[in-house]
Amino acid sequence: MTHTLTTPRLALRQLRAADAARIQALCGNWNVARMLEVVPHPYPDGLAEDWLASRPAAWRAGAAYTFAIELSGDLVGVVSIERQDTGDHAIGYWLGEPWWGQGLMSEAVARAIAFARDELTLDKLTSAYFSDNPASGRIQEKQGFRVIGHGHLPCEARGGDVAATFTELHLTGAC
Ligand SMILES: CC(C)(COP(=O)(O)OP(=O)(O)OC[C@H]1O[C@@H](n2cnc3c(N)ncnc32)[C@H](O)[C@@H]1OP(=O)(O)O)[C@@H](O)C(=O)NCCC(=O)NCCS
Repeated sequence: MTHTLTTPRLALRQLRAADAARIQALCGNWNVARMLEVVPHPYPDGLAEDWLASRPAAWRAGAAYTFAIELSGDLVGVVSIERQDTGDHAIGYWLGEPWWGQGLMSEAVARAIAFARDELTLDKLTSAYFSDNPASGRIQEKQGFRVIGHGHLPCEARGGDVAATFTELHLTGAC
């Protein structure tokens, strides 16, 4: 299975222990953390190291396929496809704020979807975004995700439940 994926501007590569400081700095930004479910704010020391240490086993177990998004050799974000308790696979992602608004996450998500379809041979991806995150909704809309419901999800940074939109993308026959 290919572990480094490329797009015109990006490389999606395996994470490394050395990525910890960069992840802590970029995810420590409130504007990033507030749009994610399980990222606390402030971002505590040691969390990125622990999370990175768990990635290889999660990949081997098929529980989570997590990629660093690299631009010009620097980590700028993360995209991950994770198996849920339901057996579905969910895609999640974040990009450091300095790189927003250039179409980079649309590019990364499109490549991760192709990986899910062609290499993981998944039939479907699910996702969700907080309803006050139209940029994420737009990324998914462009990839063909459809809205399947509305509800709430916990947000650790905000300290409570936040209105959310649930989505899915059928991959079979998409190529
Ligand atoms: C959401 C996030 C991934 C967007 O990354 P990005 O690289 O800036 O996104 P892109 O430029 O590829 O695409 C964003 C799209 O949303 C649109 N958009 C941006 N802000 C918007 C807004 N306020 N309302 C409506 N659409 C908006 C853009 O115009 C673009 O659409 P277009 O290609 O049709 O012009 C990034 O801001 C981020 O990581 N935020 C914090 C973490 C997060 O939200 N993760 C996702 C959790 S579900």
